[in-house]
Amino acid sequence: MKRAGILGIGHYVPERVVTNHDLEEILDTSHDWIVSRTGIKERRIAADDMNTSDLASRAALAAIEHAGIGVDEIDLIIVATSTPDYHVFPSVACLVQEKIKARTVGAMDVSAACSGFVYAMILAKQFIETGANQRVLVVGAEKMSKKLNWKDRNTAVLFGDGAGAVVMGPVSSDRGILSFDMGADGSGANQLVIQDYLEMNGREVYKFAVRQMPQTIMNVMDKAGFSIEDIDFLIPHQANTRIIDNAREKLGIPADKISITVDKYGNTSGATIPLSLAEEVNLGKIKDGDLLVLVGFGGGLTWGSIALRWGT
Ligand code: UT7
Repeated sequence: MKRAGILGIGHYVPERVVTNHDLEEILDTSHDWIVSRTGIKERRIAADDMNTSDLASRAALAAIEHAGIGVDEIDLIIVATSTPDYHVFPSVACLVQEKIKARTVGAMDVSAACSGFVYAMILAKQFIETGANQRVLVVGAEKMSKKLNWKDRNTAVLFGDGAGAVVMGPVSSDRGILSFDMGADGSGANQLVIQDYLEMNGREVYKFAVRQMPQTIMNVMDKAGFSIEDIDFLIPHQANTRIIDNAREKLGIPADKISITVDKYGNTSGATIPLSLAEEVNLGKIKDGDLLVLVGFGGGLTWGSIALRWGT
């Protein structure tokens, strides 16, 4: 059987850097508090005339180029986002289709907050492995800045804007997605909400994250038939370095095998995982045959992980 894998990857972040010191000017906060509680030093904030679909389209075109295919080969578009251009519809995926000039193929958004990109990849895998699709564009893109209450120091300092994308398709049987694990606990739905603006019960979400993230990593490795020591690189959702450190210590994964980009980009929700993976690929840290684990967790409450053998 052909497995679904990643054929190409790309990312895009807005040019404007907003440092913690910049936020000290508008909020009762400090660089030291933000760094010590979250690991975040700066984040990117998109210009007013750049919406989520613009970020998504740039990342998508980079991924398509990296895959070495034409835009016209894309046969399905899935965008994971919690900050769509429009409140309800059209989906960001439809806007991306038009902006990158893809064919009139199916296009839809996935709403699973910070787990959205992992959920979307798991969806794409089903279409690819049934033979229904050959070249699926999967994007994680967020303009979090438009959904932040810039007077609320509890949340405004945590998030940023950005996008990452992959082209997925069939790969050889010893590469691609080996296993996945996904779940949701709607009893925690009110802990992290976007109505007009993002509101979060940080402490409760933190407790959920430190419990669920190591668990889903163990589950996905178990399903793949491998142990934690077999992980070559972990790409975790980037919410807070303390959550990542906690999982690292619990599971005994060396720090140099874990991607950290939250320091530069903050929490870009559905975009953190493809953004981090793209950066590690660009840095040459991920080699053909490496066993990667992608893991997301967040609003819903949701979680999801993928064990993936890198390469085609
Ligand atoms: O991506 C989706 C998943 N999201 C997450 O995983 C986020 C999970 N939560 C967290 O990462 C952490 O809970 C936060 C980073 C959001 C907060 O860290 P914390 O250590 O849980 O802080 P706290 O909320 O318990 O607040 C500690 C203190 C409070 O003051 P008092 O009540 O102790 O006097 C806050 O008012 O820090 C205060 N505080 C701040 N101080 C300076 C909260 N935000 C700030 C701030 N600057 N920006």
